[in-house]
Amino acid sequence: MAALSLKVNGRSHSVDAAPDTPLLYVLMDDLQLNGPKFGCGLAQCGSCTVLLNGEPIRSCVTPVSDAAGQEITTIEGLGTLEAPHPIQKAFIEEQAAQCGYCLSGIMLYGKTFIDQNPNATEQQIMEALGGLLCRCHTHVRMVRALARYAQEVRA
Ligand code: FES
Ligand code: FES
Repeated sequence: MAALSLKVNGRSHSVDAAPDTPLLYVLMDDLQLNGPKFGCGLAQCGSCTVLLNGEPIRSCVTPVSDAAGQEITTIEGLGTLEAPHPIQKAFIEEQAAQCGYCLSGIMLYGKTFIDQNPNATEQQIMEALGGLLCRCHTHVRMVRALARYAQEVRA
């Protein structure tokens, strides 16, 4: 075990964990953040996605020691119930979520992609979501939500 310092959603935390513990386990078990989900544990589905220094990573296969001292953002860090992030508003307006299990991956990959490619077509958005699984099959609405978010980014 080692004492590790984590900065998550702008707040600093000290956790005791073996350095090779998956970051996902620490976020869920030590910090009680339930936005990132355990889906496959094999970097295959994307439901465990968080941002590390602004880039999406799969926290189920990232050792917690790799993230120590860096900026970690989970889906909880995007906005609040009172003040949702524009991408969260777009998902609500398009009714794009069913169970929500995949949303960490879809929203955090989607946000990163649209922020870097605000003129992306729906086809390009669909391709950007290619490595993410949604067991509820609401990809069509999610693509619409991301296109709506892109309008906001362009405005
Ligand atoms: S749980 Fe990490 S990619 Fe599936
Ligand atoms: S909304 Fe249920 S897995 Fe995507």
